[in-house]
Formats: sequence, C-alpha cells, structure tokens
Amino acid sequence: MIQFELNGETVTSNSPPDTPLLWVIRDELKLKGTKFGCGIAMCGACTVHIDGNATRSCVTPVSAVENRAVTTIEGLDSSEGKALQSAWIEEQVPQCGYCQSGQIMQAADLLTHNPDPSDADITAAMNGNLCRCMAYSRIKKAIKSAAIGGGA
Ligand code: FES
Ligand code: FES
Repeated sequence: MIQFELNGETVTSNSPPDTPLLWVIRDELKLKGTKFGCGIAMCGACTVHIDGNATRSCVTPVSAVENRAVTTIEGLDSSEGKALQSAWIEEQVPQCGYCQSGQIMQAADLLTHNPDPSDADITAAMNGNLCRCMAYSRIKKAIKSAAIGGGA
C-alpha cells in the first residue's frame, strides 16, 4: 500500500510499487483529466505536479510519490492555475483538447517559478508538451495573458 496526497486528500494505492503514477491516477483513483500520450516522457500529456513541480506521470512509479503531494488538473486551484484556466477559455485554446491538461499543468509550473516569462522562457518551458492540433500559438498567447504583467 502506498499513501500519498492527491489534490489535497490522502489516498492509498494498492497497485504494485512500479506501476506508473498515471495508471494509478486514471484507473485506480478514477481521475481521467490526466492523459496518456506516449508513455515514454516525450509528449507531456500526462503532466501532473509532484510537490509543485511538473512531472511526467507516465514514467513515475507510484512508489516515488509516497508521502508526497500530487496535483492533477482536477485539483489545480493555485492563483496561477486559475489565471491559466481563465486565459485558456478567453483565448479558446483547445482544439481536440487531448493535450490540454498537460499543457496547463506545465504552464502552471512555469508561472509559479517565473511569474513574468519572456517568449523564450515560455518556448523553453513548453517545449516538451506536444500538441498534434498545433494550438501552440494560442497556448503561448494564453500563458502570456495569464502571466503577471502579461509577459515580456
Ligand atoms: S504520456 Fe507521459 S510524456 Fe507522453
Ligand atoms: S488540442 Fe488536440 S492535441 Fe492539443
């Protein structure tokens, strides 16, 4: 049994310790907002926060989060997270939507650590989050609009 905090609640996983956190979140704990894209840390669809840092849950064994705090898109209620979600709606960012929770979780990590990112900062931070619908320019615009001061 592995215990950790998920979106502010203590949860227990009975999965084997090497089970990817993504499957524990989706299949065992039934939160479906975090997506499977590649399974090899190459697309960002599965991004969650572990102790506030964006992490690829598809390659993170559940044993690695024992007694740590995991946040998924369902629990993203930081001021940065809320600003991003409003900007996402305002800019009508999603197309199919599949990559979007990962994009927002990655962007929230960026704004938490860098509240006023430059274009280059945004590009560097979001580089590993792929979007097959090519919503990149709207994603960037929404991040800039959510950033304190509107970005550089
Ligand atoms: S599913 Fe985890 S990075 Fe693609
Ligand atoms: S909105 Fe479709 S993959 Fe990004």
